[in-house]
Amino acid sequence: MRPLVSHVSLLPLSLSFLLPNPPVLLFLFPFPVPALAAAQQTERAITITAAIKRDNAAPSIFRPPSSSGYVYYGCYNETTELPDTAGVRALHDGTNLVQPDSMTVEMCLDFCMTGAGDADGGQTGRFQFAGLEYAWECWCGQMLSSMSAKLPDAACNLPCDGNTTQACGGSLKLTVYMAGAAIARIAWSAGLAVMGATLFALL
Ligand SMILES: *[C@@H]1O[C@H](CO)[C@@H](O)[C@H](O)[C@H]1NC(C)=O
Ligand SMILES: *[C@@H]1O[C@H](CO)[C@@H](O)[C@H](O)[C@H]1NC(C)=O
Repeated sequence: MRPLVSHVSLLPLSLSFLLPNPPVLLFLFPFPVPALAAAQQTERAITITAAIKRDNAAPSIFRPPSSSGYVYYGCYNETTELPDTAGVRALHDGTNLVQPDSMTVEMCLDFCMTGAGDADGGQTGRFQFAGLEYAWECWCGQMLSSMSAKLPDAACNLPCDGNTTQACGGSLKLTVYMAGAAIARIAWSAGLAVMGATLFALL
């Protein structure tokens, strides 16, 4: 199991208001305090500085091109640990892909678009929803559980393993994409074209 790192960044966020320039802290109490306390202070300042650096590199929401077939839908809560869900996932009726070290949003959208790994051998085609969780997991489903609460975008703050500039959900949180209207429109106009050709052939 991976350590739950998603909570760590909350601390520097709150402290950063008090300490706009963390390195200065090292020189605030250098003389009167005992050596141990000074060392602790230094250690703390280093931790804070490192954490602020990490926050600056926080991943952002990837907005896929329309050719991907998906649009960003939001950050949603995983449902496995909610009471009365019997451990059922927010996206539970599809398939999934786990790719430590290489997961990206594009990889997940491609996977859910083709329906690869689906019990029907991908015959059902794209899934309505694609969700990234825990930096390296991709979940596809036709439905998003109504028990899954929408969270602020910033709650999905884990960088994707395969591209750290992109957000890949969080611990028990999903960066969710929904099949876009563009694809539905393409399917609709393709359908009209087929219908038109058929009518033309009949005439
Ligand atoms: C999100 O899920 C967790 C359990 O994983 C739960 O404790 C929390 O209350 C949920 N948050 C919301 C806003 O529903
Ligand atoms: C990572 O994602 C960003 C968009 O979020 C993209 O511009 C960049 O090219 C990607 N990097 C790689 C190595 O694919």
